Amino acid sequence: MKGLVLSGGKGTRLRPITHTGAKQLVPIANKPVLFYGLEALVEAGIEQIGIVVGDTADEIRQAVGDGSRFGAHVEYIPQDRPLGLAHAVKISRGFLGDSPFVMYLGDNFITGGIRQVVSRFSAEGPEAMILLKRMPDPGRFGVAELHLGRVVRLEEKPARPRSDLVLVGVYCFRPSIFEAVDAISPSARGELEITDAIQWQIDQGRRVEAHEVEGRWIDTGKMDDLLECNRVVLDLLPERREGRVSEDSRLLGKVILEEGSEVVGSTIRGPVIVGAHTRVVDSFLGPFTALYHHVTVEGSEIEHAIVLENTVIRGVSKIEDSLIGRDVVIERSNTLPRAHKMMLGDHSRVSLA
Ligand code: DAU
Repeated sequence: MKGLVLSGGKGTRLRPITHTGAKQLVPIANKPVLFYGLEALVEAGIEQIGIVVGDTADEIRQAVGDGSRFGAHVEYIPQDRPLGLAHAVKISRGFLGDSPFVMYLGDNFITGGIRQVVSRFSAEGPEAMILLKRMPDPGRFGVAELHLGRVVRLEEKPARPRSDLVLVGVYCFRPSIFEAVDAISPSARGELEITDAIQWQIDQGRRVEAHEVEGRWIDTGKMDDLLECNRVVLDLLPERREGRVSEDSRLLGKVILEEGSEVVGSTIRGPVIVGAHTRVVDSFLGPFTALYHHVTVEGSEIEHAIVLENTVIRGVSKIEDSLIGRDVVIERSNTLPRAHKMMLGDHSRVSLA
């Protein structure tokens, strides 16, 4: 069995973060979301992994390398333009050969791993296996309709969903999928949809099975979902204290301090993760905050937020429900006139209290 991880695409819903970086590398509790997927594949015994990459190829290659740190052998498959998930399968034919494979969307996160699905797929031998989860807002996703437990119809982001069962971004396929991706045409949004390719298989009378995901599933393509994912992972992680804490600091609940981090004169109410070489001085960090590496927080209050590397936050109270990019500076200014002075990238969003 091989793995195909999709890490191309546009990431428009996470702009401006994705103007300068891959959405699959946004850290969840200080680890890129893509890494959780790679780990899940390896844990399921899949070590030959192809990663489909687009504009952010260099960044993904740099982060993942040859895959050895995950116990995998990784090859990269360049996709010139994000022409759809089925297009990604099409261009990966050389890598996949005659092997059955798991396709894993690089921005998807699930708890509990995929071992059970992979062994069901191997044991039961359907042509394809899709993962499903009941969601309150199914229209944002691919939606499945089942009849007596069999998948009868799939629709991509339907205006009127026929069920609340949505397609999770993990799929098991056999080489017969290549025939399907060759048979379909681009959708209204101009993409070759994997949903249509699976529907084509159903229409051909091929057996497509569904597996309902029991754990949590989050498509991290939007900021709120990223924060939610960060919450879920911070709740699950074990405590680790590799940083330095001054005597006048108070750490309450689960606080993870990564190597070389420093907490001085501050209160942290976990679950919180403070990244490597990050400094928290005279500040308060509230639950579900993740500061990535080389961040500086001074005289500030932050809660329920993700802050990326090399960012500086000084004299600001209070930042909440936020995703802050890398190399950002947010600081209180004492010069007149008293005003909010900003230099924001395209597609930034600011809510002032
Ligand atoms: O997250 C689950 C959903 O993923 C499913 O419910 C939908 O049926 C499925 O179509 C897909 O929908 P999205 O619109 O969320 O897909 P997105 O464009 O975000 O792409 C998913 C991942 O695949 C992401 O990591 C980027 C990558 N990708 C995407 C395209 C279109 C590629 O590598 N190449 C591509 O051409």
